[in-house]
Amino acid sequence: MKIGILGAGRIGATAARLFVAAGHEVAISNSRGPESLRELVAGLGPARAMTIDAAATFGEVVLLAVPWHREDALPRPELLRGKIVIDAMNPYRPEGGFFDLGASTSSEIVLQRLPGARLVKTFNTIYYEHLATRGRKDLPVEERHAIYIAGDDAKAKEAVSRLIEEIGFAPVDTGSLREGGRLQQPDSLIYNQTYTAREARAFFRNELHKLVDTLPGSELAEALEAMTQLNGGRRG
Ligand SMILES: NC(=O)c1ccc[n+]([C@@H]2O[C@H](COP(=O)([O-])OP(=O)(O)OC[C@H]3O[C@@H](n4cnc5c(N)ncnc54)[C@H](OP(=O)(O)O)[C@@H]3O)[C@@H](O)[C@H]2O)c1
Repeated sequence: MKIGILGAGRIGATAARLFVAAGHEVAISNSRGPESLRELVAGLGPARAMTIDAAATFGEVVLLAVPWHREDALPRPELLRGKIVIDAMNPYRPEGGFFDLGASTSSEIVLQRLPGARLVKTFNTIYYEHLATRGRKDLPVEERHAIYIAGDDAKAKEAVSRLIEEIGFAPVDTGSLREGGRLQQPDSLIYNQTYTAREARAFFRNELHKLVDTLPGSELAEALEAMTQLNGGRRG
């Protein structure tokens, strides 16, 4: 698969390394242009450095790994229309803390910026050093480190789930961009945890009531229902 990566920092470069190792064709980009990525790309093996727009055009799947607040870091929306776009970004303020998004979630706002993209929110809850080191292809999927996914496009989520499995992790579906997206926010109880998929599902079953603070009102029941269905009714 051709994967375009926007952002060549901690998450972008780590994901690039893992995708190359899994046999994918990777193009990576940053704010300073391909020349500045020469050394990184040489160390990655079969990967290319491109501009942001060229990497977006190159990818069948495109990973967003730039600062969320930098709208100018995103390519022209028409370049991503109809493509699977992975949103790894968190809405950190440059001066610290998070943007208050009201009832919305950061990925819903990304989708407004990139209309027509088949957006999947994932890789946003995992610390980049864990992403670099905790992949275990030798383990059964349920015993691997969980990486959460949220989105409204089932086929896009399936494709991204395969990618996650190929790099040694376990995809765990949290539901829609709204409900799952909220569960995956930086202040949630699953953020930066090192649960296996089995532990994550048990957590959802046994502990989700603790998420009431992050997911108030009727949305909690909807999220629970959605997760049970989306994870094939698997329990614990
Ligand atoms: N670090 C983590 O463990 C972690 C975990 C999960 C999710 N995330 C999220 O992943 C995203 C990237 O985080 P990171 O830690 O990888 O950041 P990082 O190491 O600071 O890298 C940021 C990358 O974005 C590029 N960039 C910044 N402004 C840009 C612009 N205006 N146009 C084009 N490219 C631009 C930078 O390019 P230049 O170097 O050329 O400026 C750099 O390659 C963030 O949204 C973060 O919330 C991070």
